[in-house]
Amino acid sequence: MKIAMIGTGYVGLVSGVCFSDFGHEVVCVDKDAGKIARLEQGEVPIYEPGLDRLMERNVEAGRLTFTTDLGKALQGVDAVFIAVGTPTRRGDGHADLTYVMAAAEEVAKLAPNGVVIVTKSTVPVGTNRKVAETVRAANPDLDFDVASNPEFLREGAAIDDFMKPDRVVVGVESERAAKVMSDIYRPLYLRDFPIVTTDLESAEMIKYAANAFLAIKITFINEVAALCEKVGADVKQVSRGMGLDGRIGPKFLHAGPGYGGSCFPKDTKALARIGQEYASPMRITETVIDVNEDIKRRMIGKLKDLCGDDFNGKRVAVLGVTFKPNTDDMRDAPALTIVPALVGGGAEVRVCDPQGKREGERLLPGVSWIADPYEAAKDADLLVILTEWNEFRAVDLEVMSRTMRRAAMADLRNVYDPEDVSAAGFEAYVGIGRNGF
Ligand code: UGA
Repeated sequence: MKIAMIGTGYVGLVSGVCFSDFGHEVVCVDKDAGKIARLEQGEVPIYEPGLDRLMERNVEAGRLTFTTDLGKALQGVDAVFIAVGTPTRRGDGHADLTYVMAAAEEVAKLAPNGVVIVTKSTVPVGTNRKVAETVRAANPDLDFDVASNPEFLREGAAIDDFMKPDRVVVGVESERAAKVMSDIYRPLYLRDFPIVTTDLESAEMIKYAANAFLAIKITFINEVAALCEKVGADVKQVSRGMGLDGRIGPKFLHAGPGYGGSCFPKDTKALARIGQEYASPMRITETVIDVNEDIKRRMIGKLKDLCGDDFNGKRVAVLGVTFKPNTDDMRDAPALTIVPALVGGGAEVRVCDPQGKREGERLLPGVSWIADPYEAAKDADLLVILTEWNEFRAVDLEVMSRTMRRAAMADLRNVYDPEDVSAAGFEAYVGIGRNGF
């Protein structure tokens, strides 16, 4: 199969590289000439474990190329994937489809007959039909089909998620599109990964409903955690006891400082907007959006309690600022709510994050960046674990507590056991949804 992938952002690049690894001939296209030049030199613009090696292997095999020239990329393709950004539109919370529609229009003018135009970007229900209308209007003579193929990658685990998915969702309207899509994903269904083939609208809906449901699940356990603190229960035990019920499942029940990232915040807002537009309000989703903001702010109160109600003059070490481990992404990270509150309150904030510095320097003014967690914690009055990078799971707590000015810990990911923290010489500890000391 010959495939063109428009957009070398997160989803586009990972999908393009993985499709080439399936043995397809893939051309990744982007308007950003600098980015294409870097990709051609083997430089991966995002931090994603394993992506560089996979990219190199397929470039060497001659299956994967990069270009800014869409016309060239579309020569002889069976399918073109649109994987451009759909950010939240300012003002109304809708997904901004400008880039998707612009790509569709260009494809219309340059693609060969018989092409399947696949939307991989997360788009509101009805978008694939609009893509088809746009293409038809721009080039009435083109013989084409559309398909919806939402992506379910997690940052930091993207290659595994792509190669071993729980399912692949494909929305189509014609036999021809169904055949092309099944040929593209053949290496997966031959290994028994389920392909869910639906109509266009259902495929679009699955993506939003799945992400909103996961955001609801996380937010529910976060609210339960707050209540656990009041009644003296331990949310870790509660999650385990709940999750063993097969109908609930153990995943996405880790209480924390609130969900962040490029997907849940954006997609929950977009789903809420779709509900409003169709006069079918998504009330649970709307509430979750608000509750998640409250949860992030609740963390500030926890830190304040540990600092005698005043951040002023306190030295605070923050371990982890990315929205989750194994990424350099800080979009909607809880750190963006919590760290400015510390800085604004007069604390001296020392941040340590294996990948967060590049974006963080711009997003978190007024903090210092320290590469070593022990160095960051030196003479600190408070240690905050905000992102559960592996690097922070096995620090020598005894060494750390000895070098801190006041050994207090806010473990906002429940990485450590309070008993171990106490035994290591810490004098104060708060976690999430459990008893502190
Ligand atoms: C999410 C979905 O998990 C993917 O299936 C989906 O494809 C992707 O969005 C997308 O729409 O592109 P991602 O945002 O990369 O993936 O990250 P997650 O691992 O889902 O984590 C999201 C947030 O929830 C993070 O802030 C994480 O810390 C938080 N989280 C997750 C919890 O607080 N507790 C949990 O139990 C799980």
